[in-house]
Amino acid sequence: MAEPPLSIFNRPIVGDTLKFLSSPALWSRELSKRGDVVKAYIRGIDGLKMSTVYHLSGVEGLKAFYDEKNVARGSIDTPPDPYLFDNYLFVVPKLNLEAHKIRKGILLQVVHSPENIDRFIETIVSLSQGFIETLSAKIKDGKLAKIPLNTAIRQFTARFTAKYLWSYDDADGIFIRKQYEAINDISSVPLKLPFFAYNDGIKIAKWLREFSYSRLAEHRLEPDKYNDTMKLLMNAVPRLTDEELILELNHLLFAINGLSSTATGAIIKLLQHKNTEIYGKVTAEIENNRELLESFNNNQSINGKKIDEKFPYLLNVIRESLRLYPVAPMQLANSVREFQVEGYKIPKDVIVIGAIYGNGFDPKLYPDSEEFRPERFEHEITNTTSGYEYSSFGAGDISTSHRCAGQPAALSYCVYIIARLLAKFEISLVDSNQSFSWTTAFPRPVNECPVEIKFKS
Ligand code: HEM
Repeated sequence: MAEPPLSIFNRPIVGDTLKFLSSPALWSRELSKRGDVVKAYIRGIDGLKMSTVYHLSGVEGLKAFYDEKNVARGSIDTPPDPYLFDNYLFVVPKLNLEAHKIRKGILLQVVHSPENIDRFIETIVSLSQGFIETLSAKIKDGKLAKIPLNTAIRQFTARFTAKYLWSYDDADGIFIRKQYEAINDISSVPLKLPFFAYNDGIKIAKWLREFSYSRLAEHRLEPDKYNDTMKLLMNAVPRLTDEELILELNHLLFAINGLSSTATGAIIKLLQHKNTEIYGKVTAEIENNRELLESFNNNQSINGKKIDEKFPYLLNVIRESLRLYPVAPMQLANSVREFQVEGYKIPKDVIVIGAIYGNGFDPKLYPDSEEFRPERFEHEITNTTSGYEYSSFGAGDISTSHRCAGQPAALSYCVYIIARLLAKFEISLVDSNQSFSWTTAFPRPVNECPVEIKFKS
């Protein structure tokens, strides 16, 4: 069986290592443009040694990566910190195939069933009025107000998360601050490995664990008082141990965090296309559905499906923006058997990378991949394609692979928040070239995306 081609960055000692450390996502993107399977040598990805890494993208590459018989997910083999790697801030715990299927069955019921998507949307709607009012209060005497858009959306998302997971009303903002600190710690480590997280991260993971346990004790004291994710997990069948339950909640907390940069990213893209048909189509959708947005506001007939049906173009804007700014640019795993991709051999016991971000730049799937073109999702990448072409939520069969359990809820969330913000405010970017930073594990809007807002006339 043939050996895969070597990475274009391959140089003695440092080539791929430096490129990977300076920006894993951009490294991966360049490799995906050149083929579905690429082999690279990276020092430090797996402890301090030099590791051979197989980079998989494209339909065939991702099919192999998302086949749980080929790879073991959860963490690569030498976790430097058991709190963060195996447990707390990863949405994918290390489980064998059968155990994962059982776990996924529970998760799908909790976040993917229609009634729980509606509960998700109801929570957003119930908090969103406060969010709009907070922003409105910043506009004094009709003058422009300058705000960091990403911070504002992150604060809202943190508040939403606390309510959705634990019925916790984060009035004092402590939860928001902790979540911030944890995410900042993980994603501001330029000279550490991008996937490393320690120092404050460990302390916060411990804080989070204690916080979750105290919420669990309260739920046990008054079981009828709550209708939230913790309660659903407490009643899940098969029964979760307390430790498993707390871990799943913390995984969900981490997973949900992607909502903020997704919503911000889509707004940035829209504002950068203000004078084009793209913006026009979105504003037309919002105008046509003003009444519906208001009725949600009055807590009537809240339904995720209804939101998506009314905003099909905005949905494609979000999908396209997520292709360019995916919250999880790549996934790491260990191969557990030898397998083939396009005739190339992937050996057992090596690190394999599922190129979520890179895949979106595969020239076979995304011609003119640098272009922002929501229409791709009307014609080229549709429901009839294989399910591996679009990977911003992972890929494969949702009940067996690690594909995102929250995709429908996440998309409805972003549609709703973006539609509400654009219905109420005229928003402009302070820097029309607003960019994302790629030096960290997650793409982040530079300077938290400063914008100017005023009321829509
Ligand atoms: C726009 C926001 C989101 C994006 C882009 C996103 C994307 C992803 C990605 C890429 C994965 C990993 C797939 C893999 O391991 O290969 C994932 C996993 C997961 N996500 Fe999301 N996600 C988002 C929001 C959410 C929300 C809101 C929830 C819950 C309500 C959620 C629940 C999960 C869960 C439970 C997993 C683990 C699935 C498993 O291990 O089988 N996600 N998500």
